[in-house]
Amino acid sequence: MKRLAIFASGTGSNAKRLIDYFSGNKDISVVLLVSNRKEAGALEIARKAGIPAINFTKEEFYNSSTVLEKLIAEKIDFIVLAGFLIRVPDNILKAYENKIINIHPALLPDFGGKGMYGLNVHKAVIESGKSESGITIHLVNEHYDEGRILFQAKCPVLENDTAEMLAARVQELEHNYFPEAVERFIKEKTEG
Ligand code: GRF
Repeated sequence: MKRLAIFASGTGSNAKRLIDYFSGNKDISVVLLVSNRKEAGALEIARKAGIPAINFTKEEFYNSSTVLEKLIAEKIDFIVLAGFLIRVPDNILKAYENKIINIHPALLPDFGGKGMYGLNVHKAVIESGKSESGITIHLVNEHYDEGRILFQAKCPVLENDTAEMLAARVQELEHNYFPEAVERFIKEKTEG
């Protein structure tokens, strides 16, 4: 049984999809939810599903080994970032090299990097005049949104799209494809 930790800072709609998708799965189990914001909706979603959910302070993330020790104590095999808005600390990046998966709400390498999250991404895509956007699921390394791309899916950008309208279209792709992409990657990694 591979043990997943989800890191989430926000609403947690992707965390919910992952929890629902893997509940009852005989090979992969979501066993922990970690957040950097105590008001994150994702914490409540995990608790409702009976999954331990812990909020850590920035101090704990960046100036201690508390979070890494918790991951090791829980025998976490893979980490999935589902709207985690701070940088993954170096000690966790090192301990989980090529085992941290992120979803980005645009077609990397475009529209990635610092500040590119939430509606900012969709505003930038609309302003760029691009006719399509989408999602990128990728491995996380020390250079933020630059790890190996595992999967991408596209959707149109329509003439009078607002950032909110595009965000909703992109989020549908996220909910459709993220869990399967995570499962496929873990199976490839563990079946060799
Ligand atoms: C999603 O747009 C995801 O692509 C990005 O953060 C957002 C998380 O949304 N990484 P939610 O909290 O899962 O609803």
